[in-house]
Amino acid sequence: MNFQPGILAAVPDHARYLEFDFARPVNRSSVLEKLNGLDAGGNLMIGLGQCLLEQLESAVPHLRSFPNFDHGGCLVPATQSDLWVCIRGDGIGGNVHRAMEVAWGLGKEARLIRQLDGFKYDIGRDLTGYEDGTENPVGREAMETAFVGDAGPGLDGSSYVAVQQWVHDFDVFRSMTREEQDHAIGRDRETNEEFDAPDFAHVKRTAQESFDPEAFLLRRSLPWSNASGSGLMFVGFGRNFDAFEAQMNRMTGRDDGIVDGLFRFSRPVTGGYYWCPPLNRAGRFDFSRLHPD
Ligand code: HEM
Repeated sequence: MNFQPGILAAVPDHARYLEFDFARPVNRSSVLEKLNGLDAGGNLMIGLGQCLLEQLESAVPHLRSFPNFDHGGCLVPATQSDLWVCIRGDGIGGNVHRAMEVAWGLGKEARLIRQLDGFKYDIGRDLTGYEDGTENPVGREAMETAFVGDAGPGLDGSSYVAVQQWVHDFDVFRSMTREEQDHAIGRDRETNEEFDAPDFAHVKRTAQESFDPEAFLLRRSLPWSNASGSGLMFVGFGRNFDAFEAQMNRMTGRDDGIVDGLFRFSRPVTGGYYWCPPLNRAGRFDFSRLHPD
């Protein structure tokens, strides 16, 4: 199965996230040519939004635009764009240049609407100090979680990603006692051990095996920080969006009225759903699914 290797790989030291919208009306042949021209090597990951596929008169199963998850006091903005790009690298300089190449390759019809740099913190911690990714599936389970495997050529090896930028309020977080902080997450920050945490604890809300059906996600999130604030760029891959939606609905309290402790000090400010195409034998993005003819 040929999938985008960056999905399975461990989080990089640095990542640059870009989102593009294409000028309307979308020129189908020109945009397909630009997408086909992208060099899938060099740690580039991409995902296409439903709004772009509609313009390209194409469709893939399960893909839809980011839905409305707002519930009670929890606001979960949808900021769907046409194209999500993630550049993974060892340093910011290389990522900056790769991002420029991508933007030039996409041409003037593609407007950059969002950009953010993420970075690995310590052994893979959120900026609050809690280790992130502990319960991620690995090996064969990671493959089964993240990649389509039984849908035929052009779809097998593809993945669906939910992308959400979260902003932490560190004034609030600092004002919480250490116990309140551990309770919000549901793990001990020093030892990373789980304990008998309250029901609102994040790891209790999202415990993947507690859903029916089980709701496993392959998370590849990274911290970010700039003049506008600091937080986590949540990036979660699946074979569809069912696991993410089950998790998000429980986090906002839609299921049982209990809101995830994360919302005490953090909030999402973006939200998008994207289909990540597989690679073809030549190692290029496989868009054959977008050419039904
Ligand atoms: C501010 C944003 C977030 C932060 C700081 C955060 C942090 C964490 C931390 C520290 C853990 C425990 C270690 C681990 O297993 O990775 C965790 C677990 C987890 N998180 Fe998040 N997370 C965030 C957002 C989300 C979102 C939006 C989702 C999905 C909708 C999510 C899904 C999960 C899942 C599935 C687990 C593993 C639960 C288990 O099976 O034990 N997280 N998160």
